[in-house]
Amino acid sequence: MRNYLIEDLPHYFEDYKKSIKNPKKFWDKIADENFVWYQRWSKVVKYDMNEAKISWFKNAKLNITKNCLDRHLSVRGDKTAIIWEPNDPKEEAQHISYSELYKRVNKTANVLRDMGIEKGNRVCIYLPMIPELAITMLACAKLGAIHSVIFAGFSASAVASRVNDCEAKMVITSDGSYRGNKILDLKSIVDEALEKTPSVEKVLVVKRTQNEVSMKENRDFWMENLYENASPDFVSVIMDAEDPLFILYTSGSTGKPKGMLHTCAGYMVYTAYTFKNVFNYKENDIYWCTADIGWITGHSYILYGPLLNGATTVIFEGVPTYPQPDRFWEVIEKHKITQFYTAPTAIRSLAKESVEWVDKHDLSTLKVIGSVGEPINEEAWHWFNDHVGKKKCPIVDTWWQTETGGIMISPLPFVTPTKPTYATLPLPGIQPVLMDDKRNEIMGNQVTGNLCIRFPWPGIARTIWGDHQRYKETYFTAFPGKYFTGDGALRDEVGYYRITGRVDDVIIVSGHNLGTAPIEDSINQHPAVAESAIVGYPHDIKGNALYGYVVLKETGESRQRENLKKEINQLISEQIGPIAKLDKIQFVSGLPKTRSGKIMRRILRKIAEGDFTNFGDITTLLNPEIVEEIKNERI
Ligand code: PRX
Repeated sequence: MRNYLIEDLPHYFEDYKKSIKNPKKFWDKIADENFVWYQRWSKVVKYDMNEAKISWFKNAKLNITKNCLDRHLSVRGDKTAIIWEPNDPKEEAQHISYSELYKRVNKTANVLRDMGIEKGNRVCIYLPMIPELAITMLACAKLGAIHSVIFAGFSASAVASRVNDCEAKMVITSDGSYRGNKILDLKSIVDEALEKTPSVEKVLVVKRTQNEVSMKENRDFWMENLYENASPDFVSVIMDAEDPLFILYTSGSTGKPKGMLHTCAGYMVYTAYTFKNVFNYKENDIYWCTADIGWITGHSYILYGPLLNGATTVIFEGVPTYPQPDRFWEVIEKHKITQFYTAPTAIRSLAKESVEWVDKHDLSTLKVIGSVGEPINEEAWHWFNDHVGKKKCPIVDTWWQTETGGIMISPLPFVTPTKPTYATLPLPGIQPVLMDDKRNEIMGNQVTGNLCIRFPWPGIARTIWGDHQRYKETYFTAFPGKYFTGDGALRDEVGYYRITGRVDDVIIVSGHNLGTAPIEDSINQHPAVAESAIVGYPHDIKGNALYGYVVLKETGESRQRENLKKEINQLISEQIGPIAKLDKIQFVSGLPKTRSGKIMRRILRKIAEGDFTNFGDITTLLNPEIVEEIKNERI
């Protein structure tokens, strides 16, 4: 592989300028020099930002698994591809070499094919962080099936809505999942979900916890029985550049999750390029990203990005505080981790513990440490820098989204001077712009605005599964000709970017993207509830927590209200998952609304934050008197 690292900052600017002056040439070169293709492309990029139609590497033929696995066999067949670290430190870690992984993927691809899966079919994967999660994803990619991983913390109805949306033919799950000292019964959740999913024909069940589970005849099959008899040879299916690789659901401003569709070639080129550069990856590094594979971070930077570079990547099944709050630091020492990529919420919760937990471990192998998923506050940044990086490891604060496929704005280690809370500069090839509310581009520095991207990049999601119109409206309509991220950002005096947070109805709680609409939909289903509004407010550890304003059909006694709060959270847990539970619930007699009936969330947000200043002109509201009431009864 050619080294496309930018050696120092002047070179960064030089490279950056070149990359945006001629993006086609820039991406053409990267795609050409770093991958194996069955057939080269006839056109680098074709796009119409108004119609939201984007394609990269037209007519190229490939299979991403050839690039993740096959091509490494001759040079690094015995090298460890995956280190699997189990939940319980007493259980032995697994080291899976590239050749072993290749074999396991082939066998699994044969299992899927024998079970009727063909190119283009959708397979939902609802598994804990075990090697089979990575293996089944790669097996899908190898045979051209579209995987859709559902985070194994989602509830039965969240699973059902995703399975139904993509009309999955198969679901792959396990008999259970270990998380700290808990065992989650994933199979029962799948069973409940599958009562409402007519498209699913077969369920494959991986053994992990040896839990008793019920197996439905002719629908449910143990993976290990099928795997044992499967052939270790499988010829990769030849995929077109723009054939779908996977669907991954993310929250939006309506109750229905958005199935972001990523395609083969562009996603491959982009995740490989960003992984190598952002983590300053070198051949013998041992890289660990603590995210769950059920989110985009895990897709791009546990699985595809690292394997495309022939790296050793860690899959960690557990949680940061089990059995003790030094689990992360223990794993870094044990496996001699060189790059460590985690989330601000994890950093904040571990920073609350005594620093002795960190200090008792040897973290000297670390070279680069990273953060993703939400803004990292100054205090957490310094703690991470001082105690984990020991002030010698650059922190890559990486800004990106499920929709972008890979990292967009981030320091390049040893190149870009870092600045706490700043994601700093766009990667070469990426063109961020700030727009004001009147759709004008904001030029110059020391400005804030809506963060948009001017030119497409290979990793951008191509559509929302089954709803291109929604894709176009969500991302390409607010600022015509540009991709709108939904985030606000600040550009400082030297041009560094700092993400200030969402400007839409998405709230990031512990790094999880939650839409207000689906949560409100759940609450409103409670028979006692008339309507509700959810906002986020700052929280020490989670970054944001959820504050719900709930209007009841009849005002009840306070004892009943306490029960109601529990029932509301129970309902949310069942319909979405425990991550979406409300921290605070305030019963109100009405919600502040504009004359057209729109809830004034801005005011509700301010009240939840305890900021009673600058409400703006509330006299134009339909019910201005309600603001005072809500303010006085704030929790
Ligand atoms: O608001 C931004 C925030 O996370 C959102 C994307 O969430 P999701 O699609 O779940 O992907 C998360 C992992 C890439 C963004 O719109 N976000 C992500 N990274 C950062 C961030 N906010 C501030 N700083 C970051 N480094």
